[in-house]
Amino acid sequence: MSGDERSWAGLAGERAGLEQADLWRELRALEGREGVRLRTSAGQWISFASNDYLGFAEAGWLREALREGIAQHGAGAGASRLVCGSFSPHHELEALLAVAKGAEAALTFASGFAVPMGVLPALLGRGDTVILDKLCHASLVDAARLCGATLRVFPHNHLGKLERLLAGARGRVLVVTESVFSMDGDQAALAEMVELKDRHGAWLLLDEAHAFGVLGPQGRGLAAELGLEKRVELQMGTLSKAAGLSGGYVAARREVIELLVNRARSLIYSTAPPPFLAHAAAVAVRALLGAVGETARARLRANVALFQRLTRGEGGDFASAILPLIVGGERRALDLAAALSMAGYLVPAIRYPTVARGGARLRFSFSAAHETSEVEGLAAALRACGG
Ligand SMILES: Cc1ncc(COP(=O)(O)O)c(C=O)c1O
Repeated sequence: MSGDERSWAGLAGERAGLEQADLWRELRALEGREGVRLRTSAGQWISFASNDYLGFAEAGWLREALREGIAQHGAGAGASRLVCGSFSPHHELEALLAVAKGAEAALTFASGFAVPMGVLPALLGRGDTVILDKLCHASLVDAARLCGATLRVFPHNHLGKLERLLAGARGRVLVVTESVFSMDGDQAALAEMVELKDRHGAWLLLDEAHAFGVLGPQGRGLAAELGLEKRVELQMGTLSKAAGLSGGYVAARREVIELLVNRARSLIYSTAPPPFLAHAAAVAVRALLGAVGETARARLRANVALFQRLTRGEGGDFASAILPLIVGGERRALDLAAALSMAGYLVPAIRYPTVARGGARLRFSFSAAHETSEVEGLAAALRACGG
């Protein structure tokens, strides 16, 4: 592209291009929320769009934990963790997460996005190799680019290609995958990948963002479900989905975590998350691991199974809280989302660049907070609009 085409005057044309391709997005201001019901000035919806899988985000006990955290620790942390922003709730939360992940230690970050952005450049650089599943989340892709290692990509869950890439990889080799893929709702072929990376002396970073709280014993994730925690070197996840708050974590061997404290730039050069948030996150993680989590997971699974039965005539195994309806064209996805919105259901139309061009879809995400009648209503509305 010439210098002229890259001038600031070209911005208006870029906007027009996105609009013509049905790829323009806008923020919508929510005015209120009651469980899964959302309100804007334009109307009310039952949301099937959120990642609040266990219905924690609005729970009274979590609000109470936030109030308690503020009462004990005040508002902001005031500085980064290494300066004077590392409060006892951060350390308690990290100890709890380490136990939950069957790891020696854990480290929390301001967001899930910030985790790989800190971890990958801290551990890998030029001469090393990162091997990513093609459907990995943008944070993992961006972190892999940022760290300067050679980047290799294998088609989604393609073990043959992964093995060939492992055989030819140089330096420190890191395989990166998600437990549950965020736009497809399916799972990584984790057991096979662990075998492969062990055979080649590589490490694995597993992003459990959509699995933590949802899969495995006590909701501890897919690695725990398969008994593989000790064989996954870097287990990361977020507190923004099933845990109902925000923040990210990585769990690993203690020496790795201690090195990350010294090197992970998204931790070192960012103000620590407010200590009240860490306090509430520990309450949420304890709930997620305990009886509250068990009850919520049973409701979540029942909701997913009901929707599968009503729309596909079959139950199917429970893989995650996410069910996509792939429709192909961007316009078709937008039209279906608009029709559902008219019927009172908020379901996002996921388009390029979040998914491949021509792979546009509706992404239904379910929560323990959905009533049976709401899931039935969604299935009926989808049938009525020809989805
Ligand atoms: C797979 C995956 N990893 C990481 C993230 C980032 O987490 P956070 O929203 O806490 O920044 C997300 C979601 O946004 C995700 O879907």
